[in-house]
Amino acid sequence: MVIGTAVGENGLVVTGGAAEVDAALGGRLEAVLTALGATGKAGETVRFATLGTLPAATVLAVGLGPLAPPSAPLDAEVLRRAAGAALRALAGTGSVALALAAAPGSITAESVRAVAEGALLGTYSFDRLRTTSAKGLPTPVGALTLLVDGASLPLAQAEIDRAVVVAESVVLVRDLVNTPPSHLSPALLADVAVEQATAAGVTVEVLDEVALAEGGFGGIVGVGQGSANPPRLIRLEWRGGGESSALALVGKGITFDSGGLSLKPPTAMEWMKTDMAGAAAVLATVVAAARLRLPVTVTGWMPCAENMPSGDAIRPSDVLTLRGGTRVEVLNTDAEGRLVLADALVRAAEEAPGLIVDIATLTGAQIVSLGQRTSAVMGRDDAVEAVTTAAAATGESVWPMPLPPELRKGLDSTVADIANVPPGGSRDGGMLVAAHFLAHFVPNEASWAHLDIAGPSWNGGQPYGHTPKGGTGVIVRTLIQLAEDLAGPPSDQGSTIAG
Ligand code: BES
Ligand code: MN
Ligand code: ZN
Repeated sequence: MVIGTAVGENGLVVTGGAAEVDAALGGRLEAVLTALGATGKAGETVRFATLGTLPAATVLAVGLGPLAPPSAPLDAEVLRRAAGAALRALAGTGSVALALAAAPGSITAESVRAVAEGALLGTYSFDRLRTTSAKGLPTPVGALTLLVDGASLPLAQAEIDRAVVVAESVVLVRDLVNTPPSHLSPALLADVAVEQATAAGVTVEVLDEVALAEGGFGGIVGVGQGSANPPRLIRLEWRGGGESSALALVGKGITFDSGGLSLKPPTAMEWMKTDMAGAAAVLATVVAAARLRLPVTVTGWMPCAENMPSGDAIRPSDVLTLRGGTRVEVLNTDAEGRLVLADALVRAAEEAPGLIVDIATLTGAQIVSLGQRTSAVMGRDDAVEAVTTAAAATGESVWPMPLPPELRKGLDSTVADIANVPPGGSRDGGMLVAAHFLAHFVPNEASWAHLDIAGPSWNGGQPYGHTPKGGTGVIVRTLIQLAEDLAGPPSDQGSTIAG
């Protein structure tokens, strides 16, 4: 059983939901935890045996950090992370009950959602490539129970149903990111997309290398031509609303980024299987929209290629003709994401969707600017605001960044319409320059935002909260929320409709 602790004014306090445990211990729960060294700080876990005083064999107290103004509701992301940390600490346990949401009577939809999501995400592990003999690691928790009072039950059930879809979507992205390029080529990623889409009732279309060449997708073809594994462009559609799409999502799907002839050094390449995290997030979101039956039409575009050096690879100084006819001088083959995205953005805009959001592990400069846990959003004001609003509601860290006009000139090419990097290789404002390149391919009248998730897509450090090592599944929660926001308020069940 999991309960929450926090840092109060005079040391450790036990949060709502632990009343039953406290009573079973004769009101000495705080004393027990303090004796065990618990302080209530965020992420701390302390476990003790109940020795028959409670149905649960052990109690795990997880720290939530400093208690906000005593009566204020706990921040949802604080709960989400605590639930995640608790479930990670309990790996190997058969079944777990959580009394984290809040005290009986004060349980909110938001807190149930957060605890359910965090707990489900905390059970993640990626073991499919281990042989059985190498296992012997603790198995993830098998069954989860959320403890709520009877009055909160209907509310809780609806939130748990949603949380299961959301968590499975995040897990799909983690699995795809963690799957190495030996097991995930563009064609195999397309196979996963077809399988997932078909099961959820999402329409899916795949363009292969021949169709891509015929369609004038010179960026996707060019980036993919150095590899033995040919490129793909995947189109997804969930028609939950009108005929035209309210939201088009475009995700960078580089299944491995070696840099191409502008080869990366070995350690930079080590984690470049994460370079399809944007495409995976697009797939997971469109499938989630379908599973949640959101009354909104959402399309997804996944331009997928493997960026490799070879005798067939594009060379620095090559000129590619992208979809729509724009000529691009490729001065650095490692700036490949913008090339595949440009093609897909042009194609997505041809359908005139209400809002276009692209998601990409686009630049190392993103990590320099915002670190490994905060994604950047750039683009047109209305679109940027829609994304930051959705992100804030989900607890994902997303920060708006500008597109200073003077940075655009750096991409002027001496031979073509635009270069993919500034000639001479200036790295100044690299994330913003990349966004400028993309903006060149989005019609002026379109509402468009670009998310750079290079750092946040991958956790190279230790697990924390509900985030494991490796693929994080970041931004999917924000994108699902964004689709929900565009769908409008849920159809009313009658309670607030005046007669
Ligand atoms: N996939 C990388 C960006 C990246 C870096 C993603 C680190 C995740 C973690 C991208 O294709 C790339 O190589 N960008 C270059 C651009 C440069 C050549 C202008 C970069 O950021 O170094
Ligand atoms: Mn690259
Ligand atoms: Zn890349």
